[in-house]
Amino acid sequence: MIFVTGDTHRLMDVKKIDIEHFPEQKLLTRNDYLIIAGDFGGIWTGDEQDDDVLDMHESRNYTTLFVGGNHENYAALNSYPVEEWNGGKVHKIRDHVLHLMNGQVFTIDDLRIFIMGGATSVDKIWREEGVSWWPEEEPSEDEFKEAFDNLAAVQNNINYIITHTLPEKVRNKVFSVYSDFLNYDSGVEKFLNLIMENIYYEKWYAGHIHIDREFPEYKIRVLYNGVVKLK
Ligand SMILES: [Fe+2]
Repeated sequence: MIFVTGDTHRLMDVKKIDIEHFPEQKLLTRNDYLIIAGDFGGIWTGDEQDDDVLDMHESRNYTTLFVGGNHENYAALNSYPVEEWNGGKVHKIRDHVLHLMNGQVFTIDDLRIFIMGGATSVDKIWREEGVSWWPEEEPSEDEFKEAFDNLAAVQNNINYIITHTLPEKVRNKVFSVYSDFLNYDSGVEKFLNLIMENIYYEKWYAGHIHIDREFPEYKIRVLYNGVVKLK
C-alpha cells in the first residue's frame, strides 16, 4: 500500500502521521510506503541533530519516501549516495528512509509515479544561504530534461504525479486573493504547467502551501494534514 501526505517540517508537523491520525500504519510492512510531498526537513543541520527526526521515521513499520521541498538542506542531501530503486534514482538516507529524486518515474506496486520536488521560497531574502536556504530548492534544467526523457520512456502516461509545489496556473488560483508579494516567478511551477498540459495522469498530489484542498478540474489534491491512500 502507498500513502501520501503533506509537509512534515522536521518534527513540527508530524502529528498527522502518529498512530491516532494515521492508524492504518499498524498493519503496514516495510513494503508499504508513506510519501511525504516535500518539506520533509529531516536533513536540515546535516549532522547528528537530524537523528531524532530520522530515527522517528526509521522506527515506523513502513518505509518513508520523501520528495524534496524548498526547506531541505540540499548540500547535505546531495552528499548521500545515489541508488537505483524501483526504476528511478533515490538518495538512501536510512534503510527505510529514501529521498525520491527529481524527474524520476518510479514503479511501485505496479503504479507509475512521477516525482518533481522543489519550490521557490518566497521568504528567501530573510534566509541565509547554506544555513536556512539552498539554491537547489529550484530544480535544475538538467533535472527538467531528465524528467521529460523519463516521461517519454513511459509514453507520457503516469498513474500519479507527486510534487512539492503546484503548477503556476493552479498556484495563482490559490493565491489570487493575496497581495503582489505572492506574485513571484518560479521555474518549477512553469515546468509543472507543461506537465499538466502534456502528460496523462490519473491524480496529482502536492504539498507546499499548507492547506488541504481538492482541485477536481485539474485532478490535483493539495495535502497538508491529510494522509491519503493511493488506489
Ligand atoms: Fe512547507
